[in-house]
Amino acid sequence: MENLLQIKNLTVHYNMETSVVEAVNDISLDIKRGETLGLVGETGAGKTTTALAIMGLLQKARAEIISGEIFLNGESLLDKSAKAMQKIRGDKVSMIFQDPMTALNPVLTVGEQIAEVVRLHEKCSRAEAAARAKEMLETVGIPSYRYKEYPHQFSGGMKQRVVIAIALACSPDLLIADEPTTALDVTIQAQVLELMKEQIQKRDMSVIMITHDLGVVAEICDKCAVMYAGEIVEYGTVEDVLDYPTHPYTRNLLNSLPSIDGEIKKLQPIEGAVSDPTNLPPYCSFQNRCKECMERCTEGNPKLVEVAPGHWSKCFQHYKESEAEK
Ligand SMILES: Nc1ncnc2c1ncn2[C@@H]1O[C@H](COP(=O)(O)OP(=O)(O)O)[C@@H](O)[C@H]1O
Ligand SMILES: [Mg+2]
Repeated sequence: MENLLQIKNLTVHYNMETSVVEAVNDISLDIKRGETLGLVGETGAGKTTTALAIMGLLQKARAEIISGEIFLNGESLLDKSAKAMQKIRGDKVSMIFQDPMTALNPVLTVGEQIAEVVRLHEKCSRAEAAARAKEMLETVGIPSYRYKEYPHQFSGGMKQRVVIAIALACSPDLLIADEPTTALDVTIQAQVLELMKEQIQKRDMSVIMITHDLGVVAEICDKCAVMYAGEIVEYGTVEDVLDYPTHPYTRNLLNSLPSIDGEIKKLQPIEGAVSDPTNLPPYCSFQNRCKECMERCTEGNPKLVEVAPGHWSKCFQHYKESEAEK
């Protein structure tokens, strides 16, 4: 299968007045056509920053791409002008943000907002765009007679459905969903996820599903990348990563999953604090929280090692194994 998206050695910093936030540190990722990648990790891991870098939406005043390349369909995105990126966003990639309110314009009807994207993408007449927008509303489970209503007339779950309709209206090659259900009521979350799953299966698009819910990854994704302190610490198929986790952080995340019959839906926090992103250590940044850490873990920063075909892990444990084999 061909790669739709390639990220090569991407490093993104936020320059603050007195410090530098090392948000994304030398990550590389490939996403094939039609593939769904789950990007998981705690708050602050660098997931949204990675997504915004792909979209060309990093905050200009602070964010700096220190190094790296991003290719979509073989075309380099980081070289593109703001105008060219705007076109790509209406045409090839779209993003669903965590909070539907920030994505919707309160003074336009939901129908107008969907139709606008259709017109950008298809250059059709107003009437045709309106008809397509109504179809899109039905697609996401909203009756088309609500076309003329404003965002405030919709519940949170319905608003997120509208956001999904807008994101899908341009038939993107790549859809980035950044914690699309986190801001919703638990009962609504499952419905919106079901809708996303259905649309992902129906459309031949690649998806980056950003979430801290490993259940969502298991249900929707093909591949999984685990981020910690701006780095990818484990990557592989969902089966590899969830059934045979090889990085201590992934194992920790899985251990912190509540039992299926438990009441708590969110991950339990892992003991200890995440490394300060303005002052990352020159060695493994998970070392201070790692129950499996060894002496060499404070001596250097391990690289990703291929522990099995296509399954990568960034931990000295795997260095040891391969050394022992020699
Ligand atoms: N606009 C910004 N300005 C300064 N720091 C930021 C900004 N956005 C994110 N950060 C910081 O960058 C790091 C990565 O954040 P983010 O990419 O939002 O992670 P995630 O989406 O995994 O929670 C965090 O330390 C966060 O505080
Ligand atoms: Mg985020």
